[in-house]
Amino acid sequence: MMWEADESQDLWADVPAAHASHAASDRFVTGNLTSDDLDVERSLRPQRLDDYCGQDHIKQSLRILIEAAQSRGECLDHVIFSGPPGLGKTTLAAVVANELGAQIKTTSGPAIERTGDLAAILTNLQPGDVLFIDEIHRLNRSVEEILYPAMEDFALDIVIGKGPAARSIRLDIPKFTLIGATTRSGMLTGPLRDRFGISFRLDYYGIEDLAQIVLRSASILGVEVDHESAVEVASRSRGTPRLANRILKRVRDYAQVRGTGSVDLAIAREALSFFEIDELGLDWMDIRILETLAKTYRGRAVGLSTLASAVGEDPATLEDVYEPYLLQRGLIVRTPQGRQATFAAFEHLGMEPPAH
Ligand SMILES: Nc1ncnc2c1ncn2[C@@H]1O[C@H](COP(=O)(O)OP(=O)(O)OP(=O)(O)O)[C@@H](O)[C@H]1O
Ligand SMILES: [Mg+2]
Repeated sequence: MMWEADESQDLWADVPAAHASHAASDRFVTGNLTSDDLDVERSLRPQRLDDYCGQDHIKQSLRILIEAAQSRGECLDHVIFSGPPGLGKTTLAAVVANELGAQIKTTSGPAIERTGDLAAILTNLQPGDVLFIDEIHRLNRSVEEILYPAMEDFALDIVIGKGPAARSIRLDIPKFTLIGATTRSGMLTGPLRDRFGISFRLDYYGIEDLAQIVLRSASILGVEVDHESAVEVASRSRGTPRLANRILKRVRDYAQVRGTGSVDLAIAREALSFFEIDELGLDWMDIRILETLAKTYRGRAVGLSTLASAVGEDPATLEDVYEPYLLQRGLIVRTPQGRQATFAAFEHLGMEPPAH
């Protein structure tokens, strides 16, 4: 998802060129994960509810639901986790499977192309397994229809033959728990949503919870970080554990090269400003979005696709990844006419808001 500045477009006229040298790999928020990042992410993943920081309400409910299902000797009801990227949906799915003592089979909406693919997955489940479907809002409709009887009756309806001779038979499949994850709960169809007995929306983390995540990750990575610097990293992580971990890794690298290796407040601040992560945790793409709305469009409402092409990002990423946090911080608003910079955005950019 590289963008190239097109000098001929006058849209760029007011936007400072300072960020033009950034490549996609510099991004903290959407940066492509290298295989090293993925390994680290895996190693930092909590395995049990006790290691999973924050989201206390969800954890408490899950504990009760899991214990109740186990004491009845039944499968846990199907669960859906929704919320912005990097808040721990995939992690939580694995944690739930661990707590249940169940095997987890993992797939994703776009990976299941044909109904036969899903039928094969379902018939290969063992009783009590957890089937995790990531990005479940991206299942195609015919595949989704196979899922309905599977979730409701643990059955698979298969059509044999063609034309007038066709008949449908019903196969039993093992009882299982479906866990779905989605960044777009609004895109789930009604019938699918209704078949989940349990639904949780993950919210952005508070600073103290994120600081605990940073301290936990630091101890796994074997880097010394004091509480103050953990809070500093946490407060610039947009309420998102994935970013907190990613920023921690960069701060660690910086401390290794420019400092003594251990992280204190001074070196943490130095590293954060070196990597251009501001006090609100906004990276250069967020700033670019705000500057486009505030300077280029002077605070007027802008449609999503126009804004996306102006900042060189694809509309879905803009909507799923960048917008939720900017909205949550009150830096932009969504109006029927489009996205608009707020007073807070002008203030953050050090600009005078326009008279209108
Ligand atoms: N509550 C938590 N406690 C500790 N670490 C966490 C927590 N939540 C997430 N993490 C860390 O953040 C990383 C990202 O979490 P995860 O992959 O589960 O997010 P996600 O919601 O599935 O994101 P996406 O929508 O992009 O798939 C994990 O590697 C994990 O180390
Ligand atoms: Mg995930």
